[in-house]
Amino acid sequence: MRLEYRRALITGAGQGIGRACAEVFAERGADLVLLDRNPETLEIAVKAAMDRGSKVTALTLDLTDLESLEGKLDQACRDLPIDILVNNAGFDRPGTSARLEMSGFSEVLGIHLSVPLFLIKLFLPTMKARKWGRIINVSSIYGLIGAKAEVAYSTAKAGLIGLTKSIAREAGPRGVTVNAVAAGLTRTPTIEKMMAEKYKQDIIIETPLGRMAEPEEIARVIAFLASEDASYITAAVIPVSGGWGI
Ligand SMILES: NC(=O)c1ccc[n+]([C@@H]2O[C@H](COP(=O)([O-])OP(=O)(O)OC[C@H]3O[C@@H](n4cnc5c(N)ncnc54)[C@H](O)[C@@H]3O)[C@@H](O)[C@H]2O)c1
Repeated sequence: MRLEYRRALITGAGQGIGRACAEVFAERGADLVLLDRNPETLEIAVKAAMDRGSKVTALTLDLTDLESLEGKLDQACRDLPIDILVNNAGFDRPGTSARLEMSGFSEVLGIHLSVPLFLIKLFLPTMKARKWGRIINVSSIYGLIGAKAEVAYSTAKAGLIGLTKSIAREAGPRGVTVNAVAAGLTRTPTIEKMMAEKYKQDIIIETPLGRMAEPEEIARVIAFLASEDASYITAAVIPVSGGWGI
């Protein structure tokens, strides 16, 4: 499951699952391009990856600003190609259909669907030309089962599964695998800060393993999908949820 001689781009790498990916990928030998909109957390992630021996390029940017994204990434990725793309960055605008503003719906679809597609359009051609590539999209159990007060988020995460399967069909003949992980409840800073204890407990009760995931537990599955060991896996949606959502 080593990732030597691979260069991975990870979105939302400043904290949570993205930072855990940066650390696990660095431990396994990958060089990294790390993106986040928060310069302080990104700096910590960069240091953590460098301490583990990775060569790191970091870019502070808002991924939803698609117009400026291409130019910034062109510059950062000009010298070396990206072998592995991890579409991880995300945010939520909770609400039932009655409470959700259309603007919030568009924002959530933007970060979870438009940004991954944009990055795929940018990096897939080179992966195809080199006949090797890995794309891993971070979806959610909510993308499989829906969620009453998470209309935008669960719709976006379900769409990301559709995107995964469609791009897998397109890219497979050229040696590029495309997979998704459907993460369960994971102990990240956002979940710790934003989610009421009652909602966490409701999910934990439904989780056979009886606890939240640690970010590294999601990151290790993403790293596996990025590795040579996963060479015959594509278009898969792997639940990493402690059994929640079965
Ligand atoms: N934590 C969970 O329980 C859980 C469960 C299922 C799926 N997920 C998914 O996993 C992914 C990571 O989740 P997390 O809990 O680690 O999130 P998080 O909020 O802890 O971290 C997300 C990171 O993405 C960055 N980011 C967000 N929007 C950005 C933008 N427009 N431009 C640049 N950077 C941006 C943030 O600054 C942050 O560093 C998300 O896609 C999330 O939907 C999380």
